[in-house]
Amino acid sequence: MTQLEQSDIFYPSSEVTEQANVAEYEKLYQYSVENREAFWAEQAENLNWFKKWDSVLDESNAPMYKWFDGGEINIVHNAVDRHVENANRNKMAIIWEGENGEKRNFSYNGLNREVCQFANVLKSMGVEKGDVVTIYMPQIPELIFAMLACAKIGAVHSVVYGGFSTEALASRIDDAHSRVLITADGGSRRGKKINLKAIANDAMKRSPSIEVCICVKNNELDVEMEPSRDFWLHDLKALPIAGSKCETEKTGAEDPLFILYTSGTTGSPKGMVHTHGGYAVYTSTTHRMIFDIKPQDRWWCAADPGWITGHSYIVYGPLINGATIMLYDGAPNYPYPNRWWQIIENYGINILYTSPTAIRGLMRFGERWPKKHDLSSLRLLGSVGEPINPKAWKWYHHVIGNDKCPIIDTWWQTETGGCMISPLPITPLKPGSATKPFFGNEISIVNDEGNEVGANEEGKLIIKNPWPGMARTVFKDEQRYKDLYWSQVDGKWRYLAGDSAKKDDDGYIWVIGRIDEVLKVSGYRLGTAEIEHALVSHPAVTEAAAIGLPHELKGNAIHTYVVIKEGMVGDKNLCNELKEHVGSEMGKIATPEDVQFVEALPKTRSGKIMRRVLKARALGQDEGDLSTLEE
Ligand code: WTA
Repeated sequence: MTQLEQSDIFYPSSEVTEQANVAEYEKLYQYSVENREAFWAEQAENLNWFKKWDSVLDESNAPMYKWFDGGEINIVHNAVDRHVENANRNKMAIIWEGENGEKRNFSYNGLNREVCQFANVLKSMGVEKGDVVTIYMPQIPELIFAMLACAKIGAVHSVVYGGFSTEALASRIDDAHSRVLITADGGSRRGKKINLKAIANDAMKRSPSIEVCICVKNNELDVEMEPSRDFWLHDLKALPIAGSKCETEKTGAEDPLFILYTSGTTGSPKGMVHTHGGYAVYTSTTHRMIFDIKPQDRWWCAADPGWITGHSYIVYGPLINGATIMLYDGAPNYPYPNRWWQIIENYGINILYTSPTAIRGLMRFGERWPKKHDLSSLRLLGSVGEPINPKAWKWYHHVIGNDKCPIIDTWWQTETGGCMISPLPITPLKPGSATKPFFGNEISIVNDEGNEVGANEEGKLIIKNPWPGMARTVFKDEQRYKDLYWSQVDGKWRYLAGDSAKKDDDGYIWVIGRIDEVLKVSGYRLGTAEIEHALVSHPAVTEAAAIGLPHELKGNAIHTYVVIKEGMVGDKNLCNELKEHVGSEMGKIATPEDVQFVEALPKTRSGKIMRRVLKARALGQDEGDLSTLEE
């Protein structure tokens, strides 16, 4: 049966609903918000605990909430160890394909061996429980092994996206005071090799805390290795210390699992801290209920493991659920625009989870590319990272999903750890709406005074309750965490997401976009401050401002305004030089679309750049209240 279309409401087919892991939403939702602790305790029972928790939720020091405190668990014990001991032992855990067609597969048993060896290597390098290890890698299986190896021994990983560049990597190493860096000789995109180790070397010069750099040989690039600091992983794995058995550390439920840096309203990126216990419960529960994962499924989250989507839905959630995951290291349209569709057909992928930007990017090549392939294995299609425009939604639904796969549009953030607003496979869908809150979550739209707005009115999106997957703090900066995200209304704490949204008459939530100085460019999260910082690090620039303006493919594109030093000429050459400079400091994804030379930037009397004025001018809109604008 195909789906019915009724004034843009899409009803899931009986094939999907009849076998859904969750058969009913309303009642369970009601139960979950009225009995939040009981609901989450029931979900936590699906995991293996070394020691059961003392309390499900500890609110005594709110908003510094604790989940499953007193419990002992290790996420790797759940994501790997327990599968090796059960029927999943020989099940495929990771299917990997490189851009050049190279293939590597790992069963749960094989994954365990790799993780144990890597963990032993880390131990031999003096890595201990609580140490922060920075990981800067392409999308290769070793990235996942490295993350799991850290977690297994109780170390905290800090993955820096492999598309970032020198300054972005150096500042993240610095903030975390990492002693160990794991990287690779290089990666490749569109057949071109990228020398990651050279970028890592430059970053290590800027951030001296690194004493040991472990390098994975990935594509035979000639790289500079510094004796007594840099080691090849394959050399270390050949040593007797790197045995294939390693005991998993018993970590506390609230012990840190990882730090992931993300852009915020002001200043440097914040290291969001996630934990072993609550994060494991939240990612595995959302993955099971929302994406309806079945034992025989092949799951493909086509994000990069270096972002939160990859952490939660490539690595931890799916592996805890014993799923088979697909990992592809390459461009979606290389060598031809059918690459993704070919992967789906070749491997029989059942669920695809990607970003609106990727969908729009592939949509522009037309239907003929997906039409070459049998995509009938697909059952569900996911979307994340930015609002999905109805046109892309309908193309995804019709051309890729053959009108039979629900589009699971999930709203969440690095800070939330997992999906917060999302349909289930049984939910009637409206293209462009992430629909309803996930179980346990109460979500409202409020005005500047904190009062709930009416239906269809725009306001700020808030979450009125704690949830197990929430980030616990900003690394080393509890105050910043409290100030940025939490406020109290009538004695109750609420989390401010930083997005604007509205709720329609049916209670469906429509997320509109960021209200702060965060840009979502091709679904990637960047801060205006980081881009401005990269611009002013160029000798010609004295001041800079960055804003996002709508872009058909990328969602938003970066536009910058710079004031240059006296005597410098703001011409085409300098414009290109500045674009390249941002690209090499921050990473290609941060390269501005455009650099405009200006005499001065609009500022408040206290010296804050008024980006909204720049934006309004660029869009030809009303500039709004200018009373605080400096003369
Ligand atoms: C945006 C990504 C609309 C939003 C998981 C949020 C979305 C930011 C959606 C977090 C969606 C994410 N619809 N907007 N389905 N999903 N966003 O930390 O602005 O990289 O605040 O986490 O992405 O980005 P982050």
